[in-house]
Amino acid sequence: MRVKFPVMFRLLVLLPSALLTEPVRSNEVVLLDTTAVLGELGWRTYPVNGWDAITEMDEQNRPIHTFQVCQVMEPNQNNWLVSSWVWRGAAQRVFVELRFTLRDCNSIPWVAGACKETFNLLYRESDTPPNHTDQRLHPADYAKVDTIAADESFTQTDLGDRVLRLNIEVREVGPLSRRGFQLAFQDVGACIALLSVRVFYKKCPSTRRNLALFPDTVPQVAASSSLVEVPGRCVAHAEEERDAPRLYCGADGDWLVPLGRCVCSIGYEEDHGLCTACSPGSYKSFVGNIRCSKCPTNSQSGPASPVCTCEKGFYRTHSDAPSTACTRPPSAPRNLLFSMNDSSLFLEWAPPLDSGGRRDLTYVVRCWRCGAAGSCDPCGDAVQGLSSTRVAVQDFLSHGNYIFQVEALNGVSALANRRPAASNISISTEHAKPSLVGAIRREWASHTSIALSWHEVEQPPAPILDYEIKYYEKEREHQSYSSLRSQAARVIVSGLKPSTLYVFHVRARSAGGLSSFSLKAEFSTAAQSAEVVGTRGSVLVMALAAVGGFSLLVILTLFLLITGRCQWWIKSKMKSNEPRRTHYHNGHVVPFAGVKTYVDPDTYEDPTQAVHDFTKEIDPARIRIERVIGAGEFGEVCSGRLRSLGRKETAVAIKTLKGGYTERQRRDFLHEASTMGQFEHPNIIHLEGVVTKSRPVMIIVEYMQNGSLDTFLKNHEGQFTVVQLVVMLRGIAAGMAYLSEMGYVHRDLAARNILVDKGLVCKVSDFGLSRMLEDDPEGSYTSIGEKIPIRWTAPEAISYRKFSSASDAWSYGIVMWEVMSYGERPYWEMSNQDVILSIEEGYRLPAPLRCPVALHQLMLHCWQSDRNLRPHFCDMLSFLDKLIRNPSSLLTLVEDMNGLAESPGSPDYPFFISIGDWLDSIKMSQYKSNFIAAGYTTLDSVATMCIEDVRRIGVTLIGHQRRIVSSIQPLRLQLLQAQHNNFHI
Ligand code: ADE
Repeated sequence: MRVKFPVMFRLLVLLPSALLTEPVRSNEVVLLDTTAVLGELGWRTYPVNGWDAITEMDEQNRPIHTFQVCQVMEPNQNNWLVSSWVWRGAAQRVFVELRFTLRDCNSIPWVAGACKETFNLLYRESDTPPNHTDQRLHPADYAKVDTIAADESFTQTDLGDRVLRLNIEVREVGPLSRRGFQLAFQDVGACIALLSVRVFYKKCPSTRRNLALFPDTVPQVAASSSLVEVPGRCVAHAEEERDAPRLYCGADGDWLVPLGRCVCSIGYEEDHGLCTACSPGSYKSFVGNIRCSKCPTNSQSGPASPVCTCEKGFYRTHSDAPSTACTRPPSAPRNLLFSMNDSSLFLEWAPPLDSGGRRDLTYVVRCWRCGAAGSCDPCGDAVQGLSSTRVAVQDFLSHGNYIFQVEALNGVSALANRRPAASNISISTEHAKPSLVGAIRREWASHTSIALSWHEVEQPPAPILDYEIKYYEKEREHQSYSSLRSQAARVIVSGLKPSTLYVFHVRARSAGGLSSFSLKAEFSTAAQSAEVVGTRGSVLVMALAAVGGFSLLVILTLFLLITGRCQWWIKSKMKSNEPRRTHYHNGHVVPFAGVKTYVDPDTYEDPTQAVHDFTKEIDPARIRIERVIGAGEFGEVCSGRLRSLGRKETAVAIKTLKGGYTERQRRDFLHEASTMGQFEHPNIIHLEGVVTKSRPVMIIVEYMQNGSLDTFLKNHEGQFTVVQLVVMLRGIAAGMAYLSEMGYVHRDLAARNILVDKGLVCKVSDFGLSRMLEDDPEGSYTSIGEKIPIRWTAPEAISYRKFSSASDAWSYGIVMWEVMSYGERPYWEMSNQDVILSIEEGYRLPAPLRCPVALHQLMLHCWQSDRNLRPHFCDMLSFLDKLIRNPSSLLTLVEDMNGLAESPGSPDYPFFISIGDWLDSIKMSQYKSNFIAAGYTTLDSVATMCIEDVRRIGVTLIGHQRRIVSSIQPLRLQLLQAQHNNFHI
């Protein structure tokens, strides 16, 4: 007897086809899907009345092939349903997914023990489809795959309805070796509806990873866990990096374990997994996944350029990096002049207006002597390679006519197809009179006047009657000039225009006639609004008056709050009776126990040993360069990522050494790493390591998201609170305190050399050896040809190269000023020469707008001419900490003090921020340890001392006792005054 499916069951079987199928996954290759077969399936049933094939149409009029069997009333059922032949394609192993429903026997009334709840899945392999003439079933040819049972069958709901549960079962069939196979479904007495059969195998689909293409790959069947290694092929315009790209295809069709990679070739950059050509106007000169860079100035490029070519008239030397601007030969030297004394003829000129964009300017001087007939012959070989703008000519005839020519050259002059620009001067030595006037000095300048003075030559041949002063506006050199007379060797030239550059020269008149003119001197009048230059004396007075007596009370009250670090530091040193300062010779530190000291890598005989000792070699495979962020002296600076073992990737800055370097350049480049590698402090830029064993040579440091401090402040003008600015300064002071304790002198401390991270933490950077030579754009040549950033450098360092932590303290004061003025240029547009002169004369930068008194006082303290009186970094650090902890101490601004009278008797200078500082000022530093050891750690504790106390702490010389006690008295008075004024911070 045949049990038919109830009507409700039939209805439920006819589910919408969308419910019967799932979207095909991209890593599956389908060999058979009964839901997708539009025509006859061609399956056979044995016996013919066993399985029932039903084909119905879905809502889109597509056939749904189902097979049902439900012969549950009769025992010994053996009903076979055999599929058509399926080609196995590339598969060695296939999956069969069955969707079916199976009725549980308990739900069928009157069935006896014959009812079953499983069926069997079998298969038979063959190389060809079965012969149409022989359609008999040969059960023995089939291998069993599995017995299939339902996970879900009909269930009875509370309402008495029967609800269909769809079963989905997947079985693996294989390994397959013949070209195809048939499936068979053997029913032994169950009630089954087979709704769909899907046969598929898995593959790893073709993919693109790490700029390499990987083809469709079928997993190995041998062991389901084994992986197939698949080599990748680089995408167009990419090339293999160190290791060839590889992926592994897993048994489930998933790609695993990417190894190696491709990177974009020169002229191409990565874009969404492909390498696309650099757009016109940009270039990429080395292989790697960095972005194309904009063409440097005066150069251009087409698409996919490895380098930008120079525009017409501009050039690069073979040693210029592709990232450097194209440059041109300089214009002619200007204002070629001569002067004479008895033995020498001097030629002097001004540098060309246009240096061509280069710094390697030199001059060639040629000379011709001309005879009466007008023919001229060279006087000798040309003098080449001059870097100064003055020469002395010694062997010349006293009665001769000469032509001198000065040519300006730079690194690309030889590449330009034209004669270098030159200036000529003709001189008749017979008629040339020596100049009796030496160099002209500017005494002062206001916005309409300039005071000048000069020296006459030591022994004028005849008494000088008066002087003629000739001057003109620099910009109108060839248009008009004025002259004045003066009987003294000085003059005040008035009626000038504000902010204007004038050229002056002077000649003397004696009984013998007029001398030749002195060398020209250029001076500028001051700006009309702020007479910074002209009234530097008065600005000093104003600045000091502004922060005068009352503010001193602020500072003194702050002293009372200072405890801690610095004193602890001194104490801890005292325990072992060690000197406070590290002694070193030639930069090589003689270390003393407990304090880590800096070792100058130059003191190593073998500099690579220093690199080895102080840095970590990094495997370049761990570095991913992302983009160029700047150009250093030695090559590009890039940002990127560093993969660390067991840590996630960190952002890094990568300094590269450009190709074609000399051994010396490599050593200088790595010098910075050997220096940085010795430091470990939260306010010092951290060295991750170096790459020296492969090209390019690289230095890897932590990445600072906000870049350099000066630019950062300029871009965020007025956006921070005073306390935020002081916290930045505090960070810099902490870094510098650490460096000075290690015996390292920075020499180029400036806001441009401080980097800022994303949390606004400031870190000291730039430890390059070369910055003293070429790297710092602020560097200017001193009289002895050394390059120094004048505005940031202490006077003793400019004058006689006395660099020390005290000269760093001066620079720190300038950094404070830069920070409080949001990146303003120190001394604005004053010339370097004027800066030097005005400092010598006592001028100091006035407080920036909205600058707290306490901070300007600290700046002035850093700028004391006597370097021994400048504060130590550890003192500054505790001072700034106190300010941060007591923000109300920052409320009194310098501009609020204007108009307040100075408190009588309170000196402008010096003010003290520690005991050490105070003892230094009275030249009694040798007793610092006595004070600390006896427990006098704060200035207010010192204020209570009498001569007996001073003697008791070990000051035995009566003269010293007196000097100390007499300088305690003003401290005490001022302390009382602060308390009396009830001035709380
Ligand atoms: N420029 C130079 N060094 C840098 C760094 N470490 N982080 C960000 N920008 C930089």
